[in-house]
Amino acid sequence: MLKGIIQLKGDKSISHRILLFGSLVSGRCNIYNLSECKDVQRTMNILKKCNIKIIKTKNQITIFQSKIDQKVKRFYCGNSGTTARFMLGFLPTRGVSGMIYGDKSLSKRPMQRLVEPLIKMNIKIKAIKDNLPICFEKSQATPFDYSIKNPSAQIKTALVFAALSTNSKSYIKDPFHTRDHTENIIKYLGGPKEYYSKFKINSFNYTVPGDISSASFLITAALLSKGSDLTIRKVLFNETRIGYVKILKKMGAKITILNKKNQACETIADINVKHTKTLKAVSLGSSDIVSMIDEIPVFALVACYAKGITRVNNAAELRYKESDRIKSIVYNVKKCGGNIVETHDGFIIKQSILLYNTSINHFMDHRIAMMCEILKLISTNKFFDINQRNKLINTSFPEFYEQIGNIYV
Ligand code: S3P
Repeated sequence: MLKGIIQLKGDKSISHRILLFGSLVSGRCNIYNLSECKDVQRTMNILKKCNIKIIKTKNQITIFQSKIDQKVKRFYCGNSGTTARFMLGFLPTRGVSGMIYGDKSLSKRPMQRLVEPLIKMNIKIKAIKDNLPICFEKSQATPFDYSIKNPSAQIKTALVFAALSTNSKSYIKDPFHTRDHTENIIKYLGGPKEYYSKFKINSFNYTVPGDISSASFLITAALLSKGSDLTIRKVLFNETRIGYVKILKKMGAKITILNKKNQACETIADINVKHTKTLKAVSLGSSDIVSMIDEIPVFALVACYAKGITRVNNAAELRYKESDRIKSIVYNVKKCGGNIVETHDGFIIKQSILLYNTSINHFMDHRIAMMCEILKLISTNKFFDINQRNKLINTSFPEFYEQIGNIYV
């Protein structure tokens, strides 16, 4: 069982964004509780490569006003789709030319959906196919009035960073209501409200709220392990990110939200979760999917424990993540005895008994790896073997084993 009170490192999505805003500061900024995951390090490394002065001490990161080095370079993004997409909007519009590339998984992910609107904004990009590597040249962005065509906060944010490089007004609309951290940071930093355009970023301090997507793995483990009573403190509780918590409550999960408050234009809260014996099945609609897109793998585990038939529809975006997550989820749940059927845009699960099976496959996807580790924990009731830790998890949640170890009884 999981028992105790914990606090998590900063939200990955916010960490990427605050680093980019920090690199544009006039003066200096102090960032506390930045995520230490590999993906965020990729963003930081690229900024450092562009001569942004970033100093890390034990408790904080300080970014000093710097002149961006515009020499042509190759920028490696590893597994991080967020880094790659943000940089395509950010670098060329700050006078940098070069090439963006990534690892095997990132090199398969679609880029055309971002390249197309960026080209319309006059960003000089040479994309031969839909994937990385992509070459770009320094560009002067033109003002833009655009509504995003895919439910992707990465696309929205890349376009916003391009729009923030010019003095003219741009409008970038998001009919899908994807995560709005970029908008919230602009608000916190005193930027324009109705449109996007260049603004002066004065010295600031920022504390990144705990990562709600990392929390979802611990919430799931507590929910499904007998005797658990876990509190996660000061975690991000932004409306665009709490779809999973809302759905779990709808399924009957014993979850209590405490100490909800505002912190730097984001909402944070403490989440208490207790083991829940009886859960009922639900059907997820498209707005649920957007606000829990990264939590669908772990949600599939809960669905196996829920009474009835759970349906996940309108979730085709999952096919474009670090792996085709519909396939990866269905493969692993099936291997462990779950009653699951793949559909073109999701899956259907009937209540079933899960037994961990060593023939699982994480498809080089950190969230699938964590889903399988949680499945192992709850179905074997044994703490992880210290020699079998999966390094892939460092992509988003390097403290995964240590944090679970601290609360595992
Ligand atoms: C992210 C947006 C989502 C999410 C990813 C992080 C972000 O991706 O899955 O983990 O920080 O903006 P998409 O924009 O591709 O939906």
